[in-house]
Amino acid sequence: MITNTELEKKGNQFPNQIVSYSKNVDVLLFTTENNVALQITVLRDSLLRFRYATDSNFDKDFSYAITKYASTGYNKLEVFEKDNTYVITTQKLICHVNKSDLKITLFDAKDNSLISEDELGFHWEESYEFGGNVVKMSKAAQNGESYYGLGDKPEHLNLKGKRFQNWVTDSYAYGKQTDPIYKAIPFFTGLHNEKSYGIFFDNTFRSYFDFAHERKNVTSFWAQGGEMNYYFIYGPEMTDVVESYTDLTGKPHQLPALWTLGYHQCKWSYYPESNVKEITKKFRDLKIPCDAIYLDIDYMEGFRCFTWSKEYFPDPKRMVKELADDGFKTIVIIDPGIKIDNAYSVFREGLEKDYFCKRADGPYMKGKVWPGECYFPDFTRREVREWWSDLFKELVEDIGVKGVWNDMNEPAVMEVPNKTFPDDVRHDYDGNPCSHRKAHNVYGMQMARATYHGLKKYAYPKRPFVITRAAYSGTQRYTSSWTGDNVATWEHLWIANVQAQRMALSGFSFIGSDIGGFAEQPNGELYARWIQLGVFHPFCRTHSSGDHGDQEPWMFGDEITNVVRKFIELRYQLLPYLYTAFWNYLDQGTPMLKSLVLYDQTDVQTHYRTDEFIFGKQMLVCPILEPNSIGRRLYIPKGIWYNYWDNNSVEGGKEVWVDTTLDTMPIFVKAGTVIPKYPVQQYVGEKEIEQVTLDVYYKRGKESSELYDDAHDGYDYTKGRYSLRNFKLTGKSNELIIQQHKSGKFTTSYNTFKLNLIGLPFKISKIEIDNVEILLKDIHFDGDALIIDKEFTELHIM
Ligand code: NOJ
Repeated sequence: MITNTELEKKGNQFPNQIVSYSKNVDVLLFTTENNVALQITVLRDSLLRFRYATDSNFDKDFSYAITKYASTGYNKLEVFEKDNTYVITTQKLICHVNKSDLKITLFDAKDNSLISEDELGFHWEESYEFGGNVVKMSKAAQNGESYYGLGDKPEHLNLKGKRFQNWVTDSYAYGKQTDPIYKAIPFFTGLHNEKSYGIFFDNTFRSYFDFAHERKNVTSFWAQGGEMNYYFIYGPEMTDVVESYTDLTGKPHQLPALWTLGYHQCKWSYYPESNVKEITKKFRDLKIPCDAIYLDIDYMEGFRCFTWSKEYFPDPKRMVKELADDGFKTIVIIDPGIKIDNAYSVFREGLEKDYFCKRADGPYMKGKVWPGECYFPDFTRREVREWWSDLFKELVEDIGVKGVWNDMNEPAVMEVPNKTFPDDVRHDYDGNPCSHRKAHNVYGMQMARATYHGLKKYAYPKRPFVITRAAYSGTQRYTSSWTGDNVATWEHLWIANVQAQRMALSGFSFIGSDIGGFAEQPNGELYARWIQLGVFHPFCRTHSSGDHGDQEPWMFGDEITNVVRKFIELRYQLLPYLYTAFWNYLDQGTPMLKSLVLYDQTDVQTHYRTDEFIFGKQMLVCPILEPNSIGRRLYIPKGIWYNYWDNNSVEGGKEVWVDTTLDTMPIFVKAGTVIPKYPVQQYVGEKEIEQVTLDVYYKRGKESSELYDDAHDGYDYTKGRYSLRNFKLTGKSNELIIQQHKSGKFTTSYNTFKLNLIGLPFKISKIEIDNVEILLKDIHFDGDALIIDKEFTELHIM
């Protein structure tokens, strides 16, 4: 056990006795005898912000993560003084501020149970070399507490017992122990006694989180500069914590076009044009649905961003149009490094306008990337972002590129030990000039933001599509993301599964991995298993480095091609379900993938599960993560679930063995669910959707499901032109009632439904549509499925 005296010897300092207290509406300010100031802002009943200053003066308040649209407002705020504490009470939380040392204790306002308490609380160490402080916070780890979150850490879902660092890093072929990697998302949720809270440490310096690793009763976090500035978010439901965090740091600015949720094919690199065409043609010939084809760095002239290789792509506009005519959207890569070349207009312009990052003593920040020596735009400056956005005019408006993939934006620099800029590089940080120590973690985010605005402007009236590798909290507002340079191994399949779940739990749902692995070469079985997982990730793309062999769906023989086709087809059938999940994410911040703990935190069995997850709201998915599997054990959450493949039902709350073949994986649907499905299309928009299939999973009792739809692109939906159908299912022993409530001003292209009634415990003898009995002989059946060829509000099946 480390004592305070030992810590003090190490240079740590601590707040002491509170000497003043003031309150201004929702902001409370405490100062101590040794000039430490603590500002507590009550943002919502369940959301408090804590800021500490060591010399009474706070830094200018500025954050790239927090969105001004986040909802604020509380129903109750009372502060009163006791002998030893100040007590702040909201509807949800009671917060004690200890008068003698500024330590914080938080209780649930409903039952007074302890949620979180400071151990050493705030302390700091002065940093003579850089100025400012290393700011630290330590809290007691509660009995049986578990921890989740932190973005893309390739580790067990439950972070307990581990220490992590946040410093976005180019991490080619990272492994299970590699930390940090590409993203810095300093947000976690804690869970104990069935109650969950979250902490978002909004500090962009290199930061650390220790979850009962160094000392088993302590959870701490600290950063190498900046302020101790964190948000405490109370649930008690973990889903509410994640939704609040997502609201605070921002939901995606708009829905993605539906095609972006289709299947994407990528490689480093498809070139020349004839090779691109061969690939896209093969998709159509083999009838494997695909919506997007990617061009990696070789499409450029000498890796100069915003140029095209005349040799490989002599007429990009024509090619992009021809691909589009065949349903393929072209997506191109854009990196931050701008080649030092006076004959290159982007370089010249950046130089003339003084837009490139500089070292502390004046020279430009020069570093090697693909094109050789480069300068790098300072994306933390508004004018630079605006300039960057405008560079997309030609690519998007003239040539017709539909999406942009931002890579190497950690920023990655080659052949240097730290893989990035040196610490002394200067950044504008939107009018708060600073060194790279502070700007590093947001550099990629600000690049993606500038790219997003360019796409938004020039793709209008279509919706923008951006992908980024590096990210800080809040990046989800602008872009989707992938998990970087993984490897074609079974362990990486496990990692991809955990990373996608973890990102969704960290507010960033639009995520996927390089299917099949970026480095090295998968065999057919691994590729098939990876596709099976990948089709359940919001971003679904095969990508590979290309130098280890090809990784298209047909490269592994017919058996694998058929498995891959089957699962990509399933993805396309499930598009309306996935789109509805995206709409929920956009509307409520609801994660599109839910780890089992997020689904049912009251069930302790879920606290250490990693493999199974809930896709959307009601589908349980569990990838096969080992070669030669004939099945696997998995945990089914409480309740009744139907096996997707054979429709057999199982009572959850236990581990079960599920048989699989190479062309199946465990998928279960919660009883009571209505799953909407489109017909298979080779690309989104290939067919006019005239009929939607509803897979109706009988349940005794009630359950509701949603189907969101709109024009699949454009912004009309923001003006109310969307269609939201709510299906309320009530199952009795001899009757099934489906009530449909519709809202929104959009008329869907379909009003015919094909109902697959699954698990019905009785034989149908009578059907009523909106209280009118339809004789069985007048009902259309398609096999066992029931065709309802008009809109209905209430369906009675008896
Ligand atoms: C690194 C990226 O992570 C990878 O996806 C890309 O193919 C290469 N850079 C080349 O651009």
